[in-house]
Amino acid sequence: MTPEALLDLAREAMMKAYAPYSGFFVGAALLTKSGKVYQGCNIENAAHTPTCCAERTAFFKAVSEGEREFRAIAVVGGKGGNITGLFPPCGVCRQVMMEFCQPDFLIYMGKENGGYEAVPLEKLLPYGFSSGKCMQ
Ligand code: THU
Repeated sequence: MTPEALLDLAREAMMKAYAPYSGFFVGAALLTKSGKVYQGCNIENAAHTPTCCAERTAFFKAVSEGEREFRAIAVVGGKGGNITGLFPPCGVCRQVMMEFCQPDFLIYMGKENGGYEAVPLEKLLPYGFSSGKCMQ
């Protein structure tokens, strides 16, 4: 699966965003090491706190289906579904990635012109918390 193909699936997921409060439509496509893809969109809530980001929707769908090994995630987003620049994952989503992914897990952030930036998790979340590392 190419980064471009994964980004296409993230754009498809973005169209399903439920974002009546912020107007930001976000889509993610998460690639497992076995080659399966799980899509996710942001799902907002009138009480705000229950809102789930697109990345976590994709991770929670995958993990709840038994997946534990991931290679990469593509993320796109923008106001009203118009991609106007990078939409980097929030800190909470980075921490969820940290729970299941290796330092070389790749985050493809889509740009308005169809291009993307690829950043490994170790660069996106340096010094991230991991109980495995802290409790030894
Ligand atoms: N959002 C995501 O889906 N992913 C992120 O990493 C950052 C923020 C969503 C949450 C909310 O629905 C909207 O973008 C504005 O914050």
